[in-house]
Amino acid sequence: MGVGQRPLEGVVTTELEFYRGKRVFVTGHTGFKGSWLCRILALAGAEVTGFALPAPTGQNLFELSGLEGKMTSVIGDVRDFDAMKAAFDSANPEIVLHLAAQPLVRESYKDPAYTYETNVMGTVNILECVRRSRVPVMSVVNITTDKVYKNTERRQGYREDEPLDGFDPYSNSKSCSELVTHSYAASFFAEGPTAVSTARAGNVIGGGDFAVDRILPDCVRAAMSDRLIKVRNPRSVRPYQHVLEPLFAYLMIARRQWGNRGLAGWYNVGPEEADCVNTGELTGIFCKKWGEGVFWESRAEENAPHEANYLKLDCSKIRSVFGWRPKWDIEKAVEETVEWTKVWRSGGDIPSEMDREIREYLEA
Ligand SMILES: NC(=O)c1ccc[n+]([C@@H]2O[C@H](COP(=O)([O-])OP(=O)(O)OC[C@H]3O[C@@H](n4cnc5c(N)ncnc54)[C@H](O)[C@@H]3O)[C@@H](O)[C@H]2O)c1
Repeated sequence: MGVGQRPLEGVVTTELEFYRGKRVFVTGHTGFKGSWLCRILALAGAEVTGFALPAPTGQNLFELSGLEGKMTSVIGDVRDFDAMKAAFDSANPEIVLHLAAQPLVRESYKDPAYTYETNVMGTVNILECVRRSRVPVMSVVNITTDKVYKNTERRQGYREDEPLDGFDPYSNSKSCSELVTHSYAASFFAEGPTAVSTARAGNVIGGGDFAVDRILPDCVRAAMSDRLIKVRNPRSVRPYQHVLEPLFAYLMIARRQWGNRGLAGWYNVGPEEADCVNTGELTGIFCKKWGEGVFWESRAEENAPHEANYLKLDCSKIRSVFGWRPKWDIEKAVEETVEWTKVWRSGGDIPSEMDREIREYLEA
């Protein structure tokens, strides 16, 4: 990029133009999705304040993504209303994107109470901040998950009007987070300018996810130490997609519902039908893209906690309301994840790599 050139000059960026100068409050900014999101918002020229605990993993994307000095980062716990309110009031946001959560199914079996406290009371607290805000917040998106539905292991995708009743404590806490949001939207934001939506996205992949017990980070760890990749449930189907897909969907919902509350609602965000692969197929794509003779094997675990085998989303609502569709297929999503990881492995420039991906995504 030329010296002095604006980072995304020349790219058609309705999304980014809208965010320039907007005050945006992001919870969970130190996490995997939050770091990518803040990088996009920083590129757009938004005034971003993040509120979250320190990054959940030692090695983490937040530190790698060059956000220092480009946003205000407040470290705090979403269970602590006073701390959140102080950060919120000082940011005085126009837009709120709520991502902070305990997001791991297996962790939720180990500590269900913490998972509920964070995921449910965290939602109550952020919506209280919005409700009590001195200046009305224009647009709120609560990021939940594809796992909010009562899973019956059926083959078709779940639609937004189907029962919310996740099985494990993580999924169920996110069903509760949905219900809390629905109540606040009906009780407190039915009048006035504040538009409130939720977004239920599928499993995301992308560079910089260092979480335990997620398939692509597991693949990367195995490949980097020349180990065979062990896959617990190779036949389980999940709506995998690149992390930029849901992030741009969240940004689009927040933008489009601003001043147009009729568009607010609960939206699934997932891949095209053809890209709903099982975990074994995903791992196979990873092995092909990574090269270097890496392989996987199926390794079932004894006494493993319950996880759904089959989970698909019906994304016709977001398509018909907003015309939204994913841009990158599963091959491209894995390819970009591998590309990012190889840049990181060789000590390359991660902020530039992230900006390249964002630019390429916008141009797609
Ligand atoms: N990664 C996925 O595949 C996926 C899929 C669907 C939905 N989601 C949702 O997206 C959001 C972000 O997920 P992620 O993958 O980036 O997770 P992550 O673990 O990388 O990040 C979680 C973020 O929440 C913060 N956090 C956790 N507990 C907190 C607390 N008590 N107080 C304040 N902050 C706290 C962490 O510090 C971090 O910033 C979550 O709400 C998750 O449920 C993720």
